[in-house]
Amino acid sequence: MSTPSNPIKFAYWVPNVSGGLVISNIEQRTSWDINYNRKLAQIAEASGFEYALTQIRFTAGYGADNQHESVAFSHALLAATTSLKVIAALLPGPWTPVLAAKQIATINNLTSGRIAVNVVSGWFRGEFQAIGEPWLDHDERYRRSEEFIRSLRGIWTEDSFTFAGDFYRFRDYSMKPKPIDPQPEIFQGGSSRAARDMAARVSDWYFTNGNTPEEIRKQVDDIQAKAEANNHSVKIGVNAFAIARETEEEAKAVLDEIIAKANPEAVQGFADQVKNAGKASPEGEGNWAKSSFADLVQYNDGFRSNLIGTPEQIAERIIGLKDAGADLILLGFLHFQEEVEFFGKHVIPLVRKLEAERDSTLIAAE
Ligand SMILES: Cc1cc2nc3c(=O)[nH]c(=O)nc-3n(C[C@H](O)[C@H](O)[C@H](O)COP(=O)(O)O)c2cc1C
Repeated sequence: MSTPSNPIKFAYWVPNVSGGLVISNIEQRTSWDINYNRKLAQIAEASGFEYALTQIRFTAGYGADNQHESVAFSHALLAATTSLKVIAALLPGPWTPVLAAKQIATINNLTSGRIAVNVVSGWFRGEFQAIGEPWLDHDERYRRSEEFIRSLRGIWTEDSFTFAGDFYRFRDYSMKPKPIDPQPEIFQGGSSRAARDMAARVSDWYFTNGNTPEEIRKQVDDIQAKAEANNHSVKIGVNAFAIARETEEEAKAVLDEIIAKANPEAVQGFADQVKNAGKASPEGEGNWAKSSFADLVQYNDGFRSNLIGTPEQIAERIIGLKDAGADLILLGFLHFQEEVEFFGKHVIPLVRKLEAERDSTLIAAE
């Protein structure tokens, strides 16, 4: 089998907060501790995963009573692996750009450039209140995030960085050492108008919640048209919760059990807080704006991407998301270690086969 020309990339959510990736009392063998996570990272890099994404959470919320910090945890995973790239979540507000730039440049130097960042703009108002951080309106959060990203890039690439923004200011700042190549990639989460416009101006990657290929296609067309007009290039990552089993019935039964055992108060609490995301934007659209109760049982609408079934079904649906414009699939699982390994063994090779077949069909048609 030949190697596909533009293989879709795979990332997994690092379970660095407790409770896994679903708000459910279903039995989960996933653990948030470091030994479990080191082993998971090693399994993932041996199984065809290129990236791992850590989460940032400062306080308990919705089945996540314990949370390890994202930058420190990312470095621990990098130290335990050799090729995996780890994306550390950064939240403007608690992080200033100068501290983030310095931390990430150091980790980049220590790990041959395997660190990336995910700039998250915030949805959890209760968390900001708990830690004494001012809470900005929806679009103001994105204005701040954009200045944050421009500052990171400026500090990383310019010898005498000067910047006069509304949120951050720098004068002739020369940070050394600079990151070595490859420069840290900048991901962002969020899908409101403000999030998309920011992606089309400054981000390397746009991460969005799970959705159907049709809905993903609409977002991609919108962002890529704007990015082109800005002379900017941005790649797309789509969230999905994967349940791969020998039969479709088995996979669907697991989904039903996750939802049947959902913790209704915790899901409702989460639903109340995420109203501060897409719904709070001027247009009322964006992440979680249309999520049902069942969608919210998975933190980022991961059931909607429908990677639930046999390896064959899942591989075909991944190609559907790729056709809709996805460059990367971000995956959550119930029992991470076992399921990442299963996915690497049974799903990724099928995806590669389908991609290679596509390539040969295209060449034959030329
Ligand atoms: C893949 C992905 C990862 C995210 N990770 C975090 C995180 O670790 N911590 C956090 O507070 N918010 C996280 N978010 C939330 C977003 O940064 C953003 O605040 C939220 O999606 C609101 O989006 P909106 O633009 O649609 O309102 C994540 C979002 C996505 C899509």
